[in-house]
Amino acid sequence: MTETIVIMGGGVIGLSCAFELRSRGHEVTVLEINRCGGQASGAAAGMLAPYSENLEGPDEFFRLGVESLRLYPEWQSQVKRVSGMAFEYTPSGSLYIAYHEADRLALEGRLLWQKEFGSTGTLLEGDALFRIEPMLSRNVRAALHTPEECHLYAPEYVRALEQACRFIGVRIFDQLESLAIVEWQREIVVQSADQRAFGGDRLIVCSGAWAREHGDTFGIQIPVYPIRGQICAYETEDKPVRHMVFSNQGYLVGKENSTLVCGASEDVAGFDTSVTDKGIDRLRRWNKQAFPFLEHRPPFHRWAGLRPSTQDGLPLIGPLSGSNRVVLAVGHYRNGILLSPATAKLVADYVEEKRVPDYNRAFDPERFG
Ligand code: FAD
Ligand code: GLY
Repeated sequence: MTETIVIMGGGVIGLSCAFELRSRGHEVTVLEINRCGGQASGAAAGMLAPYSENLEGPDEFFRLGVESLRLYPEWQSQVKRVSGMAFEYTPSGSLYIAYHEADRLALEGRLLWQKEFGSTGTLLEGDALFRIEPMLSRNVRAALHTPEECHLYAPEYVRALEQACRFIGVRIFDQLESLAIVEWQREIVVQSADQRAFGGDRLIVCSGAWAREHGDTFGIQIPVYPIRGQICAYETEDKPVRHMVFSNQGYLVGKENSTLVCGASEDVAGFDTSVTDKGIDRLRRWNKQAFPFLEHRPPFHRWAGLRPSTQDGLPLIGPLSGSNRVVLAVGHYRNGILLSPATAKLVADYVEEKRVPDYNRAFDPERFG
């Protein structure tokens, strides 16, 4: 049955849900108070790295990430085909580096459980490591090489998603300034600052770090908080860094356009998106430790974005029990770019009342009461 769906938020999550739902034949409207992709999604490093960014164990977040990585080759080529726009998608693989024996042992432990979840990783040392990443510091003791991991150029990906949505008939209204949810139980009515009303059968809330403000409307706790990520980029020649390189201090990823992106801080700073010297200096100290050729090179570009973090580290994805007209898809924290196809498919399955894998219960949006 065709439904009329209103999506609040035009970041990667809102646009991905719009693309999937419209592709399945639903009528879709995206409402964005600012500019699509203008917040966290446009600031991201674009890494699709569930193995390197989730270190604890195979929890539900990790499983959703692995599923999303599996969906990416087909998903990104569909976005490119429909939008007619190109964007970088590079199967670079990743290296998680360790400087000390204790950290090398931790990598060995991680590889053991990750192999059960699709990783074909190996632990590399000495010549074998420096052959594939020649500019890496010789102080690096070992690295976990995960060939499956990829990265894309996030700002272009989000622009292509927006274009793809428009081409298939998603109606997108941006610069709306503010939106009020007027009715959500019997039908959906959302009103913009200029008094326009947008109606539908379903509402998908994808408002990223701002989602908490909807808690009162729905009578539930939505503990989503902004965590600022400061990030910078260097200009390079000849792509000196071949893999995404992670450590417990940060990451570096070399882009097709010869910039080397290096992130990122995790600051509690409210909704402030300033970049500070302190934040960038910390990144620079780590960068030159991993890649000594960066020693005297200042970054040419610095920026920041607000990650939507949650109280328990898991996103909120699913319908409300009070009214399944409302589906939340927020709180993707450090992995919203990675999780965009899996979230879109999950949200569309909830809308169509299809069965979803059991582990998604962990993302129940009402688990905080
Ligand atoms: P956003 O992109 O913030 O979009 C939310 C949108 O909702 C915004 O456009 C906002 O204006 C709008 N909005 C807010 N309130 C309302 C309202 N009431 N009505 C309508 N619209 C509203 N993830 C990865 O997977 N890989 C990475 O390498 C990566 N690197 C990152 C690096 C940095 C520095 C940062 C900051 C984040 C990074 N992330 C990465 C995380 C990723 O960017 C986020 O998880 C993702 O962008 C969240 O997407 P979103 O659509 O939920 O939020
Ligand atoms: N996923 C990288 C970041 O959030 O900085």
